[in-house]
Amino acid sequence: MGETETGGAGSPEAPIGVFDSGIGGLTVLREIVLALPEEDTVYLGDTARVPYGSKSRATVERYAREVASFLASHGVKMLVVACNTASAYALDALDDALGIPVVGVVEPGAGRAAALTVNSRVGIIGTEGTIRSNAYTRAIERIAPGIECFAKACPLFVPLAEEGLTQGDIATLVAARYLSELKDSEIDTLVLGCTHYPLLKKAIASVMGPGVGLIDSAEATASEVKSVLTGSGLLRGPRDDAAGRRFFVTDSPERFVAIGKGFFGDGLDTAELAVLDRLPAVCAQG
Ligand code: DGL
Repeated sequence: MGETETGGAGSPEAPIGVFDSGIGGLTVLREIVLALPEEDTVYLGDTARVPYGSKSRATVERYAREVASFLASHGVKMLVVACNTASAYALDALDDALGIPVVGVVEPGAGRAAALTVNSRVGIIGTEGTIRSNAYTRAIERIAPGIECFAKACPLFVPLAEEGLTQGDIATLVAARYLSELKDSEIDTLVLGCTHYPLLKKAIASVMGPGVGLIDSAEATASEVKSVLTGSGLLRGPRDDAAGRRFFVTDSPERFVAIGKGFFGDGLDTAELAVLDRLPAVCAQG
């Protein structure tokens, strides 16, 4: 495995930093690795403080700044905020604080939804924080002002995904309960606005039916990462050695590896413990 911290933050050889409140951002990392297999990556899951989805804007922003400082100290050339809640609450603050490109998951998912809807009726599901922030609705309305958005928080989907209960009776019952209003709203497109929801795609699709297209923000974000790297001259060229993958967590590396395999697949064998409170405050609150 190649080294991850090479070349300095402004160099194509530097790694991409990806963070989430915990395990869920691995669905985003998986798509980035599929789209850009030659890129080194450093992932941080803030497992000591997950979930972000039920916390206030101020708290999520503070956590995001601390995590971004950690990844900046590893010389990343780009920061991907793989967490929907952190993207909704802290993207602008991180963009202002860091001198590198910062990509979140909300704009790419919103862009794809706006492009896909035919009847201009789009549903959005996410954590309480993401839905409360209205970040997806605002992004979709900015891209295509005529679109009507219908949003619903689905907090139980996160523990279901982490328990591996992604299909079968329980997942379908919970999905039916959460999604009935969105079905009644006659949407033709549904944004999976949370890192964990792509794992529940089958249960969600079975409830919504074939007439509703599901938007996976993870895939849309990977395309955005590629285009931003290309546009800023930071895309890494072909290489002979294997790309470096480092995984950090703020608590319980073993649990992260055991559950994370279901989110990321092969290639997640070990995770290191990150200590955030000994860092210089690169992203100190302004
Ligand atoms: N990663 C979070 C998100 O995408 C879900 C888990 C949490 O609440 O922290 O919003």
